[in-house]
Amino acid sequence: MSSSNAIGVFDSGLGGLSAVKELMNVLPAEKIIYFGDTGRVPYGTRSRDTIRKYAFQDAEFLLKHNVKMIIAACGTVSSVAGDALEARLPVPYTGVVNPTAYTAVRETRNGKIGVIGTAATVGSHSYKLRLQKLDPGVQVFEQACPLFVSLVENGIIHRDDQITRLVVRRYMADLKDNGVDTVILGCTHFPLLREAISDYMGEGVTLVDSGRETAGYAAKVLKENGLLNDDTAVKRPEFFVSDTPEGFENVAGLFLGRNMEHTVTQIDIEQY
Ligand code: DGL
Repeated sequence: MSSSNAIGVFDSGLGGLSAVKELMNVLPAEKIIYFGDTGRVPYGTRSRDTIRKYAFQDAEFLLKHNVKMIIAACGTVSSVAGDALEARLPVPYTGVVNPTAYTAVRETRNGKIGVIGTAATVGSHSYKLRLQKLDPGVQVFEQACPLFVSLVENGIIHRDDQITRLVVRRYMADLKDNGVDTVILGCTHFPLLREAISDYMGEGVTLVDSGRETAGYAAKVLKENGLLNDDTAVKRPEFFVSDTPEGFENVAGLFLGRNMEHTVTQIDIEQY
């Protein structure tokens, strides 16, 4: 495996781009190949078997590009298929659950941690199990927030938008009442709602972004495996989607936090 090979990143859709943004900050010399399964999003409302099947097809597509590492930039895939991917992939793998849980345990002061994610993520209790393994003393409060994914995919994210504020209040009220001081944004779509969530929860509550923590962890894994790229020139990512590239173009800038020159190619994921 050559250190000049790309890092493969995938998500059910465009949420994983929030992790790509962080990866580009932490590892600017790494080439990133991103696959967003925009034709089959969302994964978070599907069965375990379907999510696993999709996750392996997504990883197989990235392996065809000789990637040196695979990152599931998706809370749902990490929660439901993470162990199976880690056991079977021929290259280093990380999802978003473990690095994020580690940071949350470090950040909490009162030992009360909230976890928000898709229905599949929360139903798997992946974050809760991991958090309590790291520190059996923490109390974990979980909340599925399926509407957040739709808000983000449709760009309804502004902190002053009445719909955004209402949905945030609806989902976050119990966590607030329970006095959590740390909330894991356990879905890679959710960092786009960070401001609205923070406005409601208050300044004293730390929001842990799964994409950011995972980017830092990926850098560590590459270093430990001698896989950091020796060529230090800044690389541009390459994007693949399973639905029309127009949808990607409409919201990619939001997730990436910038507009940049890029290529987006549509592929047929069912053949992998
Ligand atoms: N980005 C996915 C995650 O992190 C959420 C979207 C979906 O339901 O597919 O869980």
